[in-house]
Amino acid sequence: MTRPAILFVCLGNICRSPLAEAAFRMVADEHGLDAHADSAGTATYHVGEPPDPRSIATAQACGIDITHYRGRQIAVEDFHRFTHIFAMDHQNLRNIEAIRPADGSAHVSLLLDIVEGREGAAIADPYYDGEERFEDTWADVEMAARALVARLLAA
Ligand code: 4NP
Repeated sequence: MTRPAILFVCLGNICRSPLAEAAFRMVADEHGLDAHADSAGTATYHVGEPPDPRSIATAQACGIDITHYRGRQIAVEDFHRFTHIFAMDHQNLRNIEAIRPADGSAHVSLLLDIVEGREGAAIADPYYDGEERFEDTWADVEMAARALVARLLAA
């Protein structure tokens, strides 16, 4: 198997995609899957910043430290460096497709496309909501991480 390299992408790279990256790293570790993981945003608002405090707290509640993560914007090289690029929602998927180079090899899709029964669904943006919404985000990204790791191990 080619070593999987997975990029999780949302808008700001401070709420959803850092949690998706953390959940994937956790589940990959649990299963001994050797994979590279990173996250990025389609926007530049939070480049260089740590994750949102609510994402940090949500990960911390699961025993995962994401305080060292830093926001970055998705770049054209990512389509060559990663095997899979997963968008959290439809707007970000459109923005990713818009900058995808013709020879980009990464497989691009919505993250929830890999979860049976959730195909085509978005992971809602919790940025303007309360901390409790971040638990829903975590539930979504953890479910997706479990489905993704199972799929990669079966490949
Ligand atoms: P994320 O959430 O895309 O899940 O990181 C957001 C973070 C920041 C903003 C919007 C959504 N913002 O408008 O700054």
